[in-house]
Amino acid sequence: MGKDNSVLLFVWIYFCNIFVSFATSPETTTIEPTPFSATFDNSTANSTDWMLDFSDIESKFALRTPDMPEDDMCYIVPGQSDTIKECEFNPENKTFIVIHGWTVTGMYESWVPKLVMALHEREPMANVIIVDWLTRAQQHYTTSAAYTKLVGRDVAKFVTWLQGEVDYPWERIHLLGYSLGAHVAGIAGLLTRSKINRITGLDPAGPSFEYADAQSTLSPDDANFVDVLHTNTRGSPDRSIGIQRPVGHIDIYPNGGTFQPGCDLQNTVKMIAFTGFQNMDQIVKCSHERSIHLFIDSLVNEHMQSFAYRCNSKDAFNKGMCLSCRKNRCNKVGYGVNKVRARRSSKMYLKTRGIMPYKVFHYQVKVHFFGKDKMSFTEQPMQISLYGLHGEKENIPYVLPSLATNTTVSFLLTTDVDIGELLMVKIQWEKDSLFRWSWWGTNTFHIRKIRVKSGETQAKVIFSAKEGEFAYMSQGGEPAVFVKSKEAQSSRKERKLHKLKMEGSSFKKDGE
Ligand SMILES: *[C@@H]1O[C@H](CO)[C@@H](O)[C@H](O)[C@H]1NC(C)=O
Ligand SMILES: *[C@@H]1O[C@H](CO)[C@@H](O)[C@H](O)[C@H]1NC(C)=O
Ligand SMILES: *[C@@H]1O[C@H](CO)[C@@H](O)[C@H](O)[C@H]1NC(C)=O
Ligand SMILES: *[C@@H]1O[C@H](CO)[C@@H](O)[C@H](O)[C@H]1NC(C)=O
Repeated sequence: MGKDNSVLLFVWIYFCNIFVSFATSPETTTIEPTPFSATFDNSTANSTDWMLDFSDIESKFALRTPDMPEDDMCYIVPGQSDTIKECEFNPENKTFIVIHGWTVTGMYESWVPKLVMALHEREPMANVIIVDWLTRAQQHYTTSAAYTKLVGRDVAKFVTWLQGEVDYPWERIHLLGYSLGAHVAGIAGLLTRSKINRITGLDPAGPSFEYADAQSTLSPDDANFVDVLHTNTRGSPDRSIGIQRPVGHIDIYPNGGTFQPGCDLQNTVKMIAFTGFQNMDQIVKCSHERSIHLFIDSLVNEHMQSFAYRCNSKDAFNKGMCLSCRKNRCNKVGYGVNKVRARRSSKMYLKTRGIMPYKVFHYQVKVHFFGKDKMSFTEQPMQISLYGLHGEKENIPYVLPSLATNTTVSFLLTTDVDIGELLMVKIQWEKDSLFRWSWWGTNTFHIRKIRVKSGETQAKVIFSAKEGEFAYMSQGGEPAVFVKSKEAQSSRKERKLHKLKMEGSSFKKDGE
């Protein structure tokens, strides 16, 4: 783990150096153009004249078709109505406008055609338009970051013009912006007076934006609905590649949002072996770009829909405490999101796999450890096995941060397979590296019940020791086995009847 971190730190420093070298490159003499603030000053704020001036538009708008997802074959040019027909814009269906981010190479990255194809796969009749602002996106980072305002203006003009030309409903417009492109989408949304139906921010860029005001960044005010995926928020604020704070109605932080599985040391080394150090930016962008692939996943793997859960903190989520779907506390990730506009933006979390389809199944496991003797351990390796109606997942490793006599622990487990309705649970306490045999016997806890809640089905199941009242969990010993308890199977009505009976009689429920 330490090794992982140090290599990633190295990689990160390397990436920062790209930023810095661009920022200090002596050849870059272009200073930011002046009219940045013009858009926002009071004198022009109410005037729409600037909207009709197409002469300063530098961005290009290419309508991509399913048969040519890789290339910009047809440009819709603001002010030239015939280009709408020429490109066969379909006014009867949705429009996706995809906005790329900062680029070192000045070329589209490989995700662009993948996203185009995925959008067409899900919505075959939709218009998919790519905003080409590559020249402005290829400057040193801070210049490109400042250009987002001008590009946002271009997009606002384009959308407003197109809307007026074909009397196109605003509800059908969906902007998707990656990295700096997310802030471009935000500016475009603001300048069209938030009439755009939806903006999806795919890991909106952090540097220059973490502390910027809502007018300069993507924000919930920019569209009818703003959803955001945060996938690379490692590092201190404003140095992290992706913005850390929530900027939408719904902000989803997969795997905590810092960095993504499959983007770790092993894969980094593999990538370096294959492509060498010259593609370092691509390697570092693995987590950043994951936001796009999660969205693509949601488009093409509709039957494997991932869910995210609202939670106050990453730590609480990792304890499995936030797997509730009550009152919109959970939501679909990506394209199929329910447009829930909370008063305050809410952070949502989920775990994912390292490869597509990314979906995993989330479980909260709650265990109370009984014991006669006072024992206390930290960082204990466990292996938990879950058995269900459709399948099983055995020996899921989990390190319990603390394990002590007469305490309850709650933790989050995930499986990449759908095991269906849960039937049996096994928990095994492994020897840790410091484990020493003691002459008076092994450390043992007693467990009466294990409670498991599924995020995906919302089912809560109580498991009892397979034999006897307690199961025994010994350090380095056999797994303790639990089966779905009769109590859990009985209906609510039966339980209530039972409770009434017990209260009405001289029998009192013991313990618990
Ligand atoms: C712009 O408007 C705000 C209030 O809406 C005002 O405080 C500010 O002075 C105005 N700025 C200019 C340059 O007129
Ligand atoms: C802009 O329009 C709003 C209403 O549409 C009005 O209240 C405001 O005073 C106008 N501001 C300027 C500077 O004209
Ligand atoms: C777009 O086309 C699809 C497939 O023909 C159709 O199901 C969908 O309702 C259309 N959407 C709109 C907004 O018209
Ligand atoms: C733990 O609780 C049980 C009763 O629930 C009690 O008998 C036992 O002494 C307790 N152990 C310790 C170490 O406090």
